[in-house]
Amino acid sequence: MKLLEERIQQDGRVLGDDVLKVDNFLNHQVDPQLMAQLGHEFAELFRAEKIDKVLTVESSGIAPAVFAALDLDVPMVFARKKKSLTLSADNYTADVFSFTKQETNHIIVDKRFLNAGERVLLIDDFLANGQAVQGMMEIVEAADAELVGAGIVIEKTFQKGRALLDEAGIHVESLARIAAFEDGQVVFAD
Ligand code: G4P
Repeated sequence: MKLLEERIQQDGRVLGDDVLKVDNFLNHQVDPQLMAQLGHEFAELFRAEKIDKVLTVESSGIAPAVFAALDLDVPMVFARKKKSLTLSADNYTADVFSFTKQETNHIIVDKRFLNAGERVLLIDDFLANGQAVQGMMEIVEAADAELVGAGIVIEKTFQKGRALLDEAGIHVESLARIAAFEDGQVVFAD
């Protein structure tokens, strides 16, 4: 998606060999106009799949996911990383190991919000090692729902997440695909 690539070139900062900082439009400050366009793009890519629900993980997946859900006219559910007072005890959970933070998060979805047979679209901000998407896949399976695909805002093709999802036969659509970081610059995949 040209618009997103341009925004990454303009505002992204490369940290070390493998991290892109995009906190002025996606990971901290959020650009709602851009998120609406990303959401619309996801909706167009998956509309034919008759999605019932959009699922993401807090926090940075929420903005693109809610706009995709708005466009598809379905609810958006975000997996929580922390138990909250309002969360019931009847949950689906999965462990997600973060390579970036070197810690394991439990992601949690209340059973009331994911039903057997529902056609679910996963959305996330980054696809790096694929752990977050894998955790969401486990939850969809536990709910006997049907995973239709995964929409990713920024995929880093040089990390192992994409291969993992391809092996699992998941339909993945990424709006920007980064092949490498070279001399502090982003190199996009074709
Ligand atoms: P994975 O989900 O693909 O397995 O990725 P990984 O464990 O490597 O990443 C852990 C966290 O770091 C995730 O966010 C992921 O979205 C984010 N991340 C991965 N690569 C990059 C990157 O190049 N740049 C940025 N900015 N983030 C990256 P999280 O911990 O769930 O954070 P948040 O959603 O609460 O913001």
